[in-house]
Amino acid sequence: MCGIVGAIAQRNVAKILLEGLSRLEYRGYDSSGVAINNETGVRAHRAVGKVQALRDKFDAVPLDGKQGIAHTRWATHGKPTEANAHPHFSGDDLALVHNGIIENHAPLRRELKEKGYEFKSETDTEVIVHLIHDALKSEPDFLQAVKNTLKRLEGAFAIAVTLNHENERMIAARKGSPLVVGVGIEENFVASDQLALLHVTDQFIFLEEGDVVEVTRDGVTIFDAQDTVQDRPVHVFNHNVDATDKGEYRHYMMKEIYEQPKVIAACLEGRISETKVLTSCFGVDSSFLKDIENVHIVACGTSYHAGMVAKYWIEDLAGLPCSVEVASEYRYRKVAVPKNTLFLTLSQSGETADTLAALRMAKELGYLTSLAICNVPSSTLVRESALTLLTNAGAEIGVASTKAFTTQLTALLITSIAIASEKGALSAEKEAELVTSMRSLPAHIDEALKQDAAIKKVSDRFANKHNALFLGRGPMFPIALEGSLKLKEISYIHAEAYPAGELKHGPLALVDEDMPIITLVPHNNMLDKLKSNLQEVAARGGELYVFADKDTDLHNEDGVIFTEVPKVDEILEPIVHTIPLQLLSYHVAVVKGTDVDQPRNLAKSVTVE
Ligand code: AGP
Repeated sequence: MCGIVGAIAQRNVAKILLEGLSRLEYRGYDSSGVAINNETGVRAHRAVGKVQALRDKFDAVPLDGKQGIAHTRWATHGKPTEANAHPHFSGDDLALVHNGIIENHAPLRRELKEKGYEFKSETDTEVIVHLIHDALKSEPDFLQAVKNTLKRLEGAFAIAVTLNHENERMIAARKGSPLVVGVGIEENFVASDQLALLHVTDQFIFLEEGDVVEVTRDGVTIFDAQDTVQDRPVHVFNHNVDATDKGEYRHYMMKEIYEQPKVIAACLEGRISETKVLTSCFGVDSSFLKDIENVHIVACGTSYHAGMVAKYWIEDLAGLPCSVEVASEYRYRKVAVPKNTLFLTLSQSGETADTLAALRMAKELGYLTSLAICNVPSSTLVRESALTLLTNAGAEIGVASTKAFTTQLTALLITSIAIASEKGALSAEKEAELVTSMRSLPAHIDEALKQDAAIKKVSDRFANKHNALFLGRGPMFPIALEGSLKLKEISYIHAEAYPAGELKHGPLALVDEDMPIITLVPHNNMLDKLKSNLQEVAARGGELYVFADKDTDLHNEDGVIFTEVPKVDEILEPIVHTIPLQLLSYHVAVVKGTDVDQPRNLAKSVTVE
C-alpha cells in the first residue's frame, strides 16, 4: 500500500528519501515520486513501476536539497500513471504526498474547479494540495493553512507537505493512516512505517489519530486533535538485523518460511511453563479469562484464516461459543454481543483499516474486553486494544504472509488453552500434555521443511494449470483456505477451498484431469471419511495431491501424488500442514516467474478500505 517518507536535514536528502522508498517496496506499490526543496524552488521526479525507475531519473537529472517528501503509490483513484503518482503540486510551490482515501474528494474537486484550479491527475489526493493552496490565500501561516484544510477532509489520511520558501519546516498529519516521526540529530523525518527510516534513525514518535506535526531540523511540535501541543514519548527501535536482509535466500518469502521454527519458538518463549500456559502473558491482570463466556474473532485475509482455526480450538478445549468474521463485513452490520464476550482481533501489521475500524466499533458495543494478537508492537491496533499478545515473528516483508500466520496460530493456541484452563474446562494433566506438544512445534516445523525438495518437484506439474481445488476437514479446512489464498496471491492460479464433505454438493462438477486437487489429510476420526472423499475425486479422473503423515496408509499411486507431513499431535496438525502449502505456492510462483515478494495489485499493509 502507499508509503510516505519525508526528511529535513543539514545534508542532501535525495538519497535518504530514495532509500526510504526502497525500504517501503515490500508494502506493494505501482509508482513512486520525490519532491525536493532548495533555493530554486520545489522540483520533483515521478516514475511508474519500481523505485529503480525513479532512481534512474535522479541519475539522469539529479535533484539536491535539504528538505523533501517522497511516496510509493498503490493506485486507488486513477491508473498507475506518472500523472497520478505523488507528489502532487498546486502551482510550482506546494507539494504533497498522501496515504489513504479522501471520501469527499468529488464535491471538493467541483468546488476547486469553480475557483479556477486545474487538475492534472485523477487522484483524490490532488484536492488536498489545492485546498491548502487556497487556504494560504487567506491564512499566510503554512501550519495554520494546513490545519484549516484538514478540517474539510472526510476519510483517512496521512500526509506530508512541503512549501517553497519554507525551507525550515515541513508539515505532516495523520487521521486513519499510520505516520511516525523519526528523530535524528539536527535532522528529523516522517514516514508511514518506521522500517523506511532505519537507515537514518532508530528513535521514533508514533503519531496519534488527529495529530498534526511541524517538523524542523531542530525538533518537532505535535498538535493533537484538539490543537493542543503534546509531548509524545520517543521509542527506540529494537533492531533485528535479519529483518530487512534476504540473506542467502532468493526471496523474502522463502527466508520467512524458513524462519518459522525460530519465530514459533520466540512466540512460545515466556508464555508456557513445563506444564501450563502462563496467563501473565496477557498482562498483569489476567482475571478477564475467567469471565469470558463467548469469543468474537475479527480479522482479514490470512489473519481471518488463523481465526477460523481458533474457533475449533476454543469450542473444543474451552467449550465456549466462538464466531469468526471478516472485518470488512463486521464493521458494517448490527452485531449482537452476548454478555461477557471477548473481542479478539488478529493482524500481522496492526494497521489494516477494516480491522481497526472493527475494533473502534466494538469498543462501543459493550464487549468484556479487547485482545489483539499482532506482530507489530508499535502498531495502531496494539495501541488501541485493551490487551495484546504479540506474535514475535519479526518483520515480515513478503506480501504473502507465512511466518506471521503460523505464529498467529501459535498465539491462538496459547490463548485457547489459557481460556480453557481458567474456565476450568481443562484438567491439569491435559494442559500439561498440550503444553508438551506445543514445545515440540519448532522441531516439527523443521522436519516439515525437509520436504522442500520433494515439493519443488511436485510444483513443476502446476506451471500450466489455471485452477486448483484445496480440500480439508475440521480445522484443516481453514488451512485449505489459506493454501488456496497463497497460491492465488503469488502464482495467479485461480484456487478455491472446500470442506471435503462439500465436494459432492457442487464442486465435483469441476473435477477432471486438468484440475489438481490438493488435500490435507488429518490423522484423526475424519481420516476414513476423507479417504471416501478422495475416492469421489479419483473416480472422476482428478489428479490428487495428498499431504498426510505416513501412518495414514496413503502413498503414491496412479492419480495420487503423496507428500509426507510429519506425524504430530492432532492439535498441532493445522500448523504443521501449513508448511508444505507455503512451499508449494512459493515454488509454483517461481516456476511461473511471478514477482513472489511483491505480487501484482497487492499491498502488505492494507491501510485503506
Ligand atoms: C496474506 O498473505 C495477505 N497478504 C493478506 O490477506 C493479509 O493477511 C490481510 O491483508 C490482513 O493483514 P493483517 O494481518 O496485516 O491485518
